[in-house]
Amino acid sequence: MKDLLGLEKMTRAQIERILETTRPMKALFTRSIKKVPVLRGKTVALLFFEPSTRTRSSFELAAKRLSADTLNIAVATSSVTKGESLLDTAKTLEAMKVDFMVLRHSSSGAPDLVAPEVKARVINAGDGTHEHPTQGLLDMFTILEKKDRVDGLRIVIVGDVLHSRVARSNLWGLTKLGAQVTVCGPATLIPPGIREVFGKKVQVSFNLEEALRGADVINVLRLQRERQEGNYLPSLREYTELYGLNQNRLRLAKPDCLVLHPGPMNRGVEISSEVADGPRSMILEQVTNGIAVRMAVLYMFSGPNGFTLDPSEIEKENNAIEPALRDIA
Ligand code: CP
Repeated sequence: MKDLLGLEKMTRAQIERILETTRPMKALFTRSIKKVPVLRGKTVALLFFEPSTRTRSSFELAAKRLSADTLNIAVATSSVTKGESLLDTAKTLEAMKVDFMVLRHSSSGAPDLVAPEVKARVINAGDGTHEHPTQGLLDMFTILEKKDRVDGLRIVIVGDVLHSRVARSNLWGLTKLGAQVTVCGPATLIPPGIREVFGKKVQVSFNLEEALRGADVINVLRLQRERQEGNYLPSLREYTELYGLNQNRLRLAKPDCLVLHPGPMNRGVEISSEVADGPRSMILEQVTNGIAVRMAVLYMFSGPNGFTLDPSEIEKENNAIEPALRDIA
């Protein structure tokens, strides 16, 4: 696999391999010496056509902690503003011999368009309403770290599922790992074909109180007002009344239920500050884990054949990363 375009295209074994590799990466960057030379000489270009705080900066930190060089393309001041196409921009970076293109774009499918045209590994950092695979991976890693499993957990994804690439990557990843997922939100914000795509692996609920009973994890989605062209909601106040996660609703879930949110949050709309800053909130832990997951992704896709589950390649990878970890222990 040359590129990371989405979790839909990955197998359970591939997802688990990335999550296994994330553990030593986290151990590495939470120590006092945070850098290893495993990607020395590689260049990671960050090409963000949409705003980002978490994803862009954590890819940059992840690349730097593996000793890669980073190239930030400021789209607002690049030749894109003169009408250069996405493909021409990608081919220009290819001519500069970058090894990775981390791409965020408002159009669903933009990374799929670029990937076959370049030798560089293309990593989808969020495309339109399609997928955000590294967010899905970091959400799963956060759950795994706290619960030791994903298989069999009751996970509720609540909010603007229709416009959410985070929800799509979570749905593909979590169902592959065996979670029981419920999506919940107003009917206008639930994708119409969701039952056809996921069958019995995903339940749909329009009643948050019902959906939360017995939940192990709640993933609260941002209400994406910038992607909502139609009138999906009568009012924000009604949305908060019916679907906002507050302390009273959280009590319906299991006592050790985790609360996730990909950020950025609309405090007081989809989540109350009390919950966002409370003891069950994993929101800042997710940010930390985002660096570790992205280190694992960059590392695992950097091999000559891209990401592989070939046992001899895995052994080579382990032989490269383990001494680096021992050196700083
Ligand atoms: N979760 C997420 O994608 O955040 P950013 O838009 O800040 O990257």
